Amino acid sequence: MAVAPRDATGLPRARPGQPNAMTTPSTPTAGILSEDRGEEREQIIEMLQKAYFMELETVMSYVANSINPDGVRAQEIKESLEEDIQEELGHAQQFAQRIKELYGVVPGSLDFSAEQSYLQPPTEQTDVVHVIKGVIEAETGAIEHYARIIDFCDGVDLVTQDMVIAIQRDEEGHRRLFEGFLREYQAEGKA
Ligand SMILES: [Fe+2]
Ligand SMILES: [Fe+2]
Repeated sequence: MAVAPRDATGLPRARPGQPNAMTTPSTPTAGILSEDRGEEREQIIEMLQKAYFMELETVMSYVANSINPDGVRAQEIKESLEEDIQEELGHAQQFAQRIKELYGVVPGSLDFSAEQSYLQPPTEQTDVVHVIKGVIEAETGAIEHYARIIDFCDGVDLVTQDMVIAIQRDEEGHRRLFEGFLREYQAEGKA
């Protein structure tokens, strides 16, 4: 049996005309990274970019609303929003990471346009109900957009789907918490 010639390091020497297999990595032939899934990949990237901006706008709104409100009863709301800021920022980072994994580019700030009209500072900073309703609205918007991503990814990109399902659970939790806050005011006829 012929022994392959070795170089100084002891590794088999590459023979001329025989390219090293490692220099031509192959593209996955299955899954969302495969060539024939390019169109779906583009659509998912677009939805993820929207989700990314939604999260970042939520971060802005929650920072403001975790500081602006006045009053004893505002305290609970402020603390809750303060905790959510890190979670929403984490969501934005997850969306950004996934955009890159799908060969997309995380958009720059000039592509951003604000949409959360309902989470602007109220006229009176003691208007906690305005903040609670705004948060519920923001969480509802996220839940609806993420439901669309989850549907689209079904059988197409289970990795993105899995990630968005986990994020979706966080948003449902946030929404439910603020719905509970609102109930208290509704029971008193103040909302
Ligand atoms: Fe979020
Ligand atoms: Fe949320």
